[in-house]
Amino acid sequence: MEIKFDRHRRLRQNLGIRNLVREHRLHIHDMIYPLFVTEGTGIKREVSSMPNVFQLSLDQLSKEIEEIVHLGIQAVILFGIPNTKDPMGTEAYHDHGIVQKAIRQIKQQVPELLVIADTCLCEFTDHGHCGVVHEGKILNDPSLDLLAKTAISQAKAGADIIAPSNMMDGFVTAIRHGLDEAGYTDIPIMSYAVKYSSAFYGPFREAAESAPQFGDRKTYQMDPANSREALREAYSDIKEGADILMVKPALAYLDIIQQVKTNFNLPVAAYNVSGEYSMIKAAAKNGWIDEKAVVLEMLTGMKRAGADIILTYFAKDVAKWLQEGN
Ligand code: PBG
Repeated sequence: MEIKFDRHRRLRQNLGIRNLVREHRLHIHDMIYPLFVTEGTGIKREVSSMPNVFQLSLDQLSKEIEEIVHLGIQAVILFGIPNTKDPMGTEAYHDHGIVQKAIRQIKQQVPELLVIADTCLCEFTDHGHCGVVHEGKILNDPSLDLLAKTAISQAKAGADIIAPSNMMDGFVTAIRHGLDEAGYTDIPIMSYAVKYSSAFYGPFREAAESAPQFGDRKTYQMDPANSREALREAYSDIKEGADILMVKPALAYLDIIQQVKTNFNLPVAAYNVSGEYSMIKAAAKNGWIDEKAVVLEMLTGMKRAGADIILTYFAKDVAKWLQEGN
């Protein structure tokens, strides 16, 4: 008697066939590489929890940019470590702030490299919170004006895209309005629309020296247990004028990436955050996993979930691996 069953293995039998039917591919054009810029000279300081990620002073930046461009990466996102911090995060919106100087320098060196500015206050405030603090509370509305000022000064310095990450309500409206008033109607906003209060940001806070000095970010970043709230956040940001929606972190939130992708029609970015990077680096260093295979699998999973764009500290490695052909 003949038994009927489906032969799924037909389409897996050799590399050619597998390549032919592959649904998702990584491309370096989808990647954004994060950079940490710091005041001073001669500084190339490795972040201890993030091997191969450095805080760079501006004189060290040109070489890095050269390498990035050579690898075919076409977009970077900037985070700044200022000399001085104060309660209002003044250096975030200073025309000669570290991020503004870095933007000008990069745009002068390679005008076609997309420079994305992370717009937040936590790296610039002495209390390390993303908004104005009063009597132990993080105030929403008074923070909006500072964020708009920050975005405008970043656009003025030459930023191609503004990426507000601070999770105050109304931040997209405030920034869109500010940019438009200042004549930057063509600068897109890539909103960190869905940003969870995540332990996966730990290594970043070392890299950006931005850990909150009291309390945590749970009154403004989202509860990891919630998904409907993610859709409400995304919906608000679309109404307020976001051009690209980001979900962050990525690895533990693939379901959220997929929901945002299927519910809305905007491009979706996924932030493969610092803790996701450090875990793989640590395991690979111990010889416990195959770093290249794991990274490519993880990033492909993010694309499969619906990410059009991936921000990742692995971008340079991925560029090399894709050039090698895998
Ligand atoms: C700033 C900001 C954070 C990250 C990006 N922008 C940290 C935070 O909210 O504390 C995290 C990125 C990463 O972990 O790689 N608000």
